[in-house]
Amino acid sequence: MKAIEIRNKYLNFFKNHGHKVIPSAPLIPENDPSVLFTTAGMQPLVPYLLGEKHPEGTRLTDYQKCLRTNDIDEVGDNRHLTYFEMLGNWSLGDYFKEESVAMSFEFLTKELGIPVEKLSVTCFAGDEDAPKDTVTAECWKKAGIPEERIYFYGKDDNWWIAGEEGPCGPDTEMFYDTGKPACSPECQPSCDCGKYVEIWNNVFMEYYKTKDGKYEKLKQYNVDTGLGLERMTMLLQGKETPFDTELFAPIMQKLSELAKVDNIESRRIVTEHLRASMMVITDGGRPSNVDRGYVLRKLIRRMSRHLNKLQIDLSELAGLIDLNIDILKELYPELEKNREVIKQVIIEEKDKFMKTLAHGEKEFEKAINKAKQENKNVIDGQTIFKLYETYGFPPEITADLAAEQGFKIDNTEFEKLFKEHQEKSRMGSEQKFKGGLAEQNEKTIAYHTATHLLHKALQIVLGEHAKQKGSNITTERLRFDFSHPEKMTKEQLQKVEDIVNEQIARDLPVTCEEMTLEEAKASGATGLFENKYGEKVKVYTIGDFSKEICGGPHVSHTGELGHFKIKKEESSSAGVRRIKAVLSD
Ligand code: ALA
Repeated sequence: MKAIEIRNKYLNFFKNHGHKVIPSAPLIPENDPSVLFTTAGMQPLVPYLLGEKHPEGTRLTDYQKCLRTNDIDEVGDNRHLTYFEMLGNWSLGDYFKEESVAMSFEFLTKELGIPVEKLSVTCFAGDEDAPKDTVTAECWKKAGIPEERIYFYGKDDNWWIAGEEGPCGPDTEMFYDTGKPACSPECQPSCDCGKYVEIWNNVFMEYYKTKDGKYEKLKQYNVDTGLGLERMTMLLQGKETPFDTELFAPIMQKLSELAKVDNIESRRIVTEHLRASMMVITDGGRPSNVDRGYVLRKLIRRMSRHLNKLQIDLSELAGLIDLNIDILKELYPELEKNREVIKQVIIEEKDKFMKTLAHGEKEFEKAINKAKQENKNVIDGQTIFKLYETYGFPPEITADLAAEQGFKIDNTEFEKLFKEHQEKSRMGSEQKFKGGLAEQNEKTIAYHTATHLLHKALQIVLGEHAKQKGSNITTERLRFDFSHPEKMTKEQLQKVEDIVNEQIARDLPVTCEEMTLEEAKASGATGLFENKYGEKVKVYTIGDFSKEICGGPHVSHTGELGHFKIKKEESSSAGVRRIKAVLSD
């Protein structure tokens, strides 16, 4: 059975049992900044699980696009995926355990035709927060699962909650016996030897876990279920891994044809990350240095790295994307509509990454040689930090490259240095900006670099007199005050904006040098010379565009800034104008 058939059967089955089919929410949650991506079908339904009335009633079903990134580094083995589709059905204070179990049993055995002998189930064993779930176990017996294949486990296995706080409860999980020999006489569904594969989870949400860890009864008893489409497809087709199903196999095959050096792990990573990136981009995600954007960046970068490893020419990417869209468009018609933008975003990000790699490669080789000479098999934290700070090399890439040559990285030392650096920059900027940069994170750092670009662009458009008079940065915007006698025209604003965006598109490197104030002046650096600097100052140079005395920190390449837009130009005080501007992904 193909994935699309399984999905259709599922939705139809629950429709015939009184459920309304609702559309998948986007992968990027609407109005919920607390989570990066939708990770389960219940997530968009939380208000209704807590008692709000859903316009479609009390029985719902859908397929939900999900992304889980905690196991991103595991992708490449025979089962881990970041993006997956979750089929789900919900009772919002409607049916509870008995009907839920009966419907699941009927769907698995009748609709999907899974022999009862292949099914085992698990129920909650009980603890101080909630009793043993004998009710559900009885329902399973009644449905047709023999007692010896009903297992009881504690909270680690049979309790479900998304995160730390929220609606939750005991669950019952269904397992499929692959027919592989048991790894030991004790082998049970909880064992991960591969004999048993979890296929469906029904959560009986009757509790709310509060911030301080208490379990309170919910107003209504809900059922929340989740069935992973890729896994079910794999099992019903008798395949060993999801990569052998029609969802991934054509890409795996294509990669195998293109690869000069074959490596199945790399092919899986490319296949999986490409699909996940496409889904994120289709739902509006764009690469950046923070949050969701960073996850997408990481997916695309790892994918590019593994294409390199397979020695596949990166110009093949466009063709791989086309093929992937053709495979998936029946399941996700939105991919077809976004074909061009998907290609553009992935290819642009890949290009940026290749530049970053090229910048840091020599330095990386030096580090490896040094370690070899010293007879060490670990790259020290100082070196990883330098690669990160000066060349924009993400530590996970350094680790990856190092591993290829049989080296490890000293992550503990790196993290220590990274924290120290953050702390130093924070203190430095506090002095320099007197609170102008209240918080130091990727966003404010990006705004900080954008401020340098803006300063220079203003001088180009208005003249040398347009000098910095003040700066204030938050995670939301930059504010820049500069000397200029009159209101700027629309054309001037547009020009400034264009110049800044041009420099971003050029992906100029940002470099830092320390020198005396005199040397800085002589080098043509601008800066607030009336300020009292220490003996040595830092001079930040942005390609051939700008040179300023500044405490930093800055991004390593302007391409990381995204799109620059001026929101407002107004008077600040006599002879001083003020611009507010934002960066978007
Ligand atoms: N919300 C449950 C899960 O994700 C069904 O497993």
